[in-house]
Amino acid sequence: MRVGIVGGSGYAGGELIRLLLRHPQSELSLVTSQRYASEYLYMIHPNLRGQTQVKFSPLNNEEVVKKCDVVFLATPHGVSKGFVKDLLERGLKIIDLSADFRLKDPNDYPKWYGWEHPCPELLRESVFGLPELHRKEMRNAPLIACVGCMSGASILGIAPIIKTGIVDLEHISLDAKIGSSGGGSEPTPANHHTERFGGIRPYQVVGHRHIAEIEQELSILANKQIHVGFTPHALDIARGILITAQLWLNKKVENAEVWKAYRDTYGTEPFIHIVKYKKGLYQLPDPKVIIGTNYVDIGFELDDHIPRLVVFSAIDNIVKGAAGQAVQCWNASNGWDEKVGLDLISMH
Ligand SMILES: NC(=O)c1ccc[n+]([C@@H]2O[C@H](COP(=O)([O-])OP(=O)(O)OC[C@H]3O[C@@H](n4cnc5c(N)ncnc54)[C@H](OP(=O)(O)O)[C@@H]3O)[C@@H](O)[C@H]2O)c1
Repeated sequence: MRVGIVGGSGYAGGELIRLLLRHPQSELSLVTSQRYASEYLYMIHPNLRGQTQVKFSPLNNEEVVKKCDVVFLATPHGVSKGFVKDLLERGLKIIDLSADFRLKDPNDYPKWYGWEHPCPELLRESVFGLPELHRKEMRNAPLIACVGCMSGASILGIAPIIKTGIVDLEHISLDAKIGSSGGGSEPTPANHHTERFGGIRPYQVVGHRHIAEIEQELSILANKQIHVGFTPHALDIARGILITAQLWLNKKVENAEVWKAYRDTYGTEPFIHIVKYKKGLYQLPDPKVIIGTNYVDIGFELDDHIPRLVVFSAIDNIVKGAAGQAVQCWNASNGWDEKVGLDLISMH
């Protein structure tokens, strides 16, 4: 298929190019950037030297429609809502990596993003881009809105447990640690090396936007409205997310029961590993181990001191958190093996 990437000069766009150049069903036909229009892709993404002679083009809907069958949108929040409707009406298939079509309730946009949604009718049509929960709805869907990075890792980490009824759903606490690429490639004081280096900085301690999508998806699983506490921390690594979830238990639970919940839900998932080893250095998830890949490592520990289950979930924020997730959604929507183009081993 002829594939376009809007926002190809950014971090998620760069990873989309890397993955799609090796995808057997993809012919990269258009990559947009306003700032770098007419530059070779490899001038911005040096890992692509020798891999492609494609150049960046300015964004122009006519060109997108003419040159693409499917388009991946890797633009900041608030951009794609301005042109998705037009592209859909002209028959394009869209996979959006931003938050513009993730939330089902239009009232959530003024609340969490500060703007009214210009096409609320599309929120019902868009499929939430997390294949482990929504792959059936993805089949032939014209619009897929990929889950966010910290929200995706949080949801996948605890989804199987939420369904069991063993946890107190009123007191779910999620702690996120994230590398600097999570904030995108635009320089800001928050991702300036001297500020970031050597620190662990809590930010948006309450009210982070990802809460909206975490609650949306967990509430569907629990069949009741769920509220969660979520607090992110900025680390001085470039890539990677580790979520630590604190779940308070309603009753005494054995390890076997928790294992069963994860096996029943994720037994055949191509990208989820349950990581809970008794030997070695990496007994529980560490994002370092899956960097560059679409894997999610999930592990847990039961506390025998207080009734608590601690769950860890590790991803690469730009792959399973963004570009890899988008490619997996594309595979699922076409009925292809979800591992196509994503069968990668990490470095150690
Ligand atoms: N980084 C992550 O870990 C991550 C994880 C999950 C989801 N996401 C989501 O993926 C999207 C991209 O994130 P990123 O980290 O790759 O951001 P980024 O590095 O800042 O890249 C943004 C891209 O969008 C383009 N762009 C900016 N404003 C635009 C506009 N008005 N019209 C058209 N193109 C525009 C920029 O291109 P030019 O300025 O060159 O034109 C650039 O290529 C965001 O919605 C983000 O939330 C990112």
